[in-house]
Amino acid sequence: MTRSAMGARTLPGEYFTSTEIHDRETANIFEKQWICVGRASAIPNAGDFFLHEMDGESLIIVRNESGQVNCFYNVCRHRGTRIQEAACGRIKKRLHCPYHAWGYDLDGKLKSAPNMMGVDGFCEQDHSLHTAACRVWQGFIFINQKQGGAALETDFQGILDRFDDWELERLVSAHEITYNVRANWKVIFQNYSECYHCSLVHPQLRPITSVETASNDFEDGQLLGGPMILSDEFKTVTMDGNQCGELLSKLSSDDQRRVYFYTLCPSLFISPHPDYVLTHRIERRSVNSTRIVCNWLFPPEVIQRDGFDVAQAVEFWDLTNRQDWDICELTQQGLQSRVYQPGPYSELESMLAAFDRHYLSLMTAS
Ligand code: FES
Ligand SMILES: [Fe+2]
Repeated sequence: MTRSAMGARTLPGEYFTSTEIHDRETANIFEKQWICVGRASAIPNAGDFFLHEMDGESLIIVRNESGQVNCFYNVCRHRGTRIQEAACGRIKKRLHCPYHAWGYDLDGKLKSAPNMMGVDGFCEQDHSLHTAACRVWQGFIFINQKQGGAALETDFQGILDRFDDWELERLVSAHEITYNVRANWKVIFQNYSECYHCSLVHPQLRPITSVETASNDFEDGQLLGGPMILSDEFKTVTMDGNQCGELLSKLSSDDQRRVYFYTLCPSLFISPHPDYVLTHRIERRSVNSTRIVCNWLFPPEVIQRDGFDVAQAVEFWDLTNRQDWDICELTQQGLQSRVYQPGPYSELESMLAAFDRHYLSLMTAS
């Protein structure tokens, strides 16, 4: 047993049921940490945008004229009206409020305000849209609502180049599925962080990789997890064991035979395979519901090739995802019982203990 799991027990029930703790998470984690909101490739052109809703806020993620991705609060600086209602689309040059037509450019600067420009004491520079910090890392868009918080490069120090060998930055989605799961977000994280359940819950995984091959290369901090080794008959994780794409060209010979499972607290799972990268973006919705957006990422030239077919990878992970969400929902139901009390983690659950430690450190940090 790794020392990190020894004696550790699961979190008390209120961490999965209490709205008071949910609100503390909002203040201590979700308003302070870097949150993944999607892929930069979803908004390739100037003016392309999508909305991200979290914790009662609506945020506009938009690419500006020079290619940079910005994040603004969807709140007009006149009387507060929601400016953008569509979930995604393209803004032509200006973002216009539907109430009195104040217009903002793609950097959030107020450019027009009928009957206001030139009025004594009115200064358009004082009425730019409110912003959240926004950075692109490995092709993912991350936002941070904390004003003056640490740079992403500082917060992600030590993992910044972890996924370079998979060229994650340039991979694009060949398929996407969204799931709504009736379980607390931490149940989803914890389930993904162990393969103790795999042989029982995922019989289809048994021939591909075994829990005995699992190890962890990140055991502390916001990124947790590590590799499992593929069995000889499988070239990757798909229904038939064959690759949908091609071996990613920069992988070491070891990584050509491995699948990695990483959680990045509090909003992303990254699972590099020999020929693709599976990602799960985790959106906490309420104390007992979570939205999960799953993507299968490949190099763009592979997706464009004649005959490319992602079905074998999608079928495998969609089946596995649904098995996971079912067991997570059963877990959530039990966590809500009056008799639930923390249970002991097994030696195969050291990453869950590590997740709890990191989570509690964020909850108690000032
Ligand atoms: S509230 Fe937006 S222009 Fe008046
Ligand atoms: Fe699972």
